[in-house]
Amino acid sequence: MQEKIIILDFGSQTTQLIGRRVRELNMYCEIVPYNKFPHDDPSVIGVILSGSPFSVYDEKAFKVDLSGIRGKYPLLGICYGAQFMAYVNGGTVESADSREYGRARLEKVDSTDPLLAGIEPGAQVWMSHGDTITSLPTGFKIIASTDHVPVAAYRAEGEKVWGVQFHPEVYHSECGMQILKNFVAGICGGKQDWSAASFIESTVRSLKEQLGDDKVVLGLSGGVDSSVAAVLLNKAIGSNLTCIFVDHGMLRKNEFANVMRDYEGLGLNVIGVDASAEFFKELEGVTEPERKRKIIGKGFIDVFDREAHKLKDVKWLGQGTIYPDCIESLSITGTVIKSHHNVGGLPEKMNLKLCEPLRLLFKDEVRAVGRELGMPEHLISRHPFPGPGLAVRILGDITPEKVRILQDADDIFIQGLRDHGLYDKVWQAGVILLPVQSVGVMGDERTYERAVALRAVTSTDAMTADWAHLPYEFLAEVSNKIINKVRGVNRVTYDISSKPPATIEWE
Ligand code: XMP
Repeated sequence: MQEKIIILDFGSQTTQLIGRRVRELNMYCEIVPYNKFPHDDPSVIGVILSGSPFSVYDEKAFKVDLSGIRGKYPLLGICYGAQFMAYVNGGTVESADSREYGRARLEKVDSTDPLLAGIEPGAQVWMSHGDTITSLPTGFKIIASTDHVPVAAYRAEGEKVWGVQFHPEVYHSECGMQILKNFVAGICGGKQDWSAASFIESTVRSLKEQLGDDKVVLGLSGGVDSSVAAVLLNKAIGSNLTCIFVDHGMLRKNEFANVMRDYEGLGLNVIGVDASAEFFKELEGVTEPERKRKIIGKGFIDVFDREAHKLKDVKWLGQGTIYPDCIESLSITGTVIKSHHNVGGLPEKMNLKLCEPLRLLFKDEVRAVGRELGMPEHLISRHPFPGPGLAVRILGDITPEKVRILQDADDIFIQGLRDHGLYDKVWQAGVILLPVQSVGVMGDERTYERAVALRAVTSTDAMTADWAHLPYEFLAEVSNKIINKVRGVNRVTYDISSKPPATIEWE
């Protein structure tokens, strides 16, 4: 049985990061909403309470009865998690005079406490909270302080209950990993045996059991997730897996042919379908971004469904869904900015059972599994690319000519990033074709042609992003090349907006 840590999610932006950090310690964990603790799961060995955007005094604050958990499992509260445990046990939490935000150094560290073993006074931690614990419940004691925060970390004496008001999961907390390790390994006794190799072994075994001789169909997108899911399924069931790769006409230059070659090299049984003409027809004259997304999503489902029906006796639909897509998130605002789940309707429409072998993995883990499976590095380390492809990078209506212009410009930019060793330094890059024309001069001729924007961002999860500070010389070279080589473009700009308030894609 795979032992696990449960992370109770109280809605903090860093909850997923706690999960990733615990996994980086080779310790398997799951994130569940604060009120959905799996009381019947015998594999749980410890519990972490996350932070929250709320104060314990907010009417809307998430509250939970810990009586079935405390005493049964070791508990670690982080930020709100720590304040909540102090508050419900009779401690005092008060709004701090000024919001505690940023770097702080631990002092008066009780290094005899197992949570702080190996932590020296002066260790840097990261604070981010509006409230602070001003007095602890009876039986609780301080085990570390900072300049401004007397109760930086506490423990309930004689019990396996700890709280820290800083965020050990964020990268700026230099001793954070040691503290998490002390908790999951030292205190909970976790064996830390979760690895890409152990995941592959156990997943292949359970896929064999789950699928038997059943046939599976899987849609490939050229992206990391669907590709790794396919290779994993192929390892488990071989030729009973058929993959379908649909070209909607808005992929990158030569991408369809290149990726098909990669897939065949990996021994996958792939059907490539060129459906670009159909998609161009459906998209003719459509300018509204969400309508473009819907048309492509629906078109993809129709083509996939048609091709899959040509196969006999298929029972399962394989998908490369990953953990961040599955975590039942406690979205406080609930606003949908863009509809990213383009093919959400596929399983319902096809009446197939769903098989999602990567649904418990974070993106970095999917990549590690891909590497362990021997997949080529260029497939593994590819930038994310949106399902509707270049359609959401052509502002306004879409024509094959505009796609050609954008493919050529994009190819120069991406190849340039690779040639200059910059590709792996950015999270994602691409070119946007703007719906503006401007005056230029080439030779003796006045031109009136299109403008494009280069977009390159750094990020860790696409939730927030900064524009990549690419060298001026590089930008100059790419700009020159695009204007000289791509017919129809006479102006290149660089997008210097961060997310938020902008988004990564322009549509
Ligand atoms: P935004 O533009 O919202 O993008 O900052 C965040 C990440 O999501 C990708 N993206 C999409 N992916 N279908 C997808 O499969 C879509 O419709 C879509 N729109 C944006 C985007 O490329 C970035 O990685």
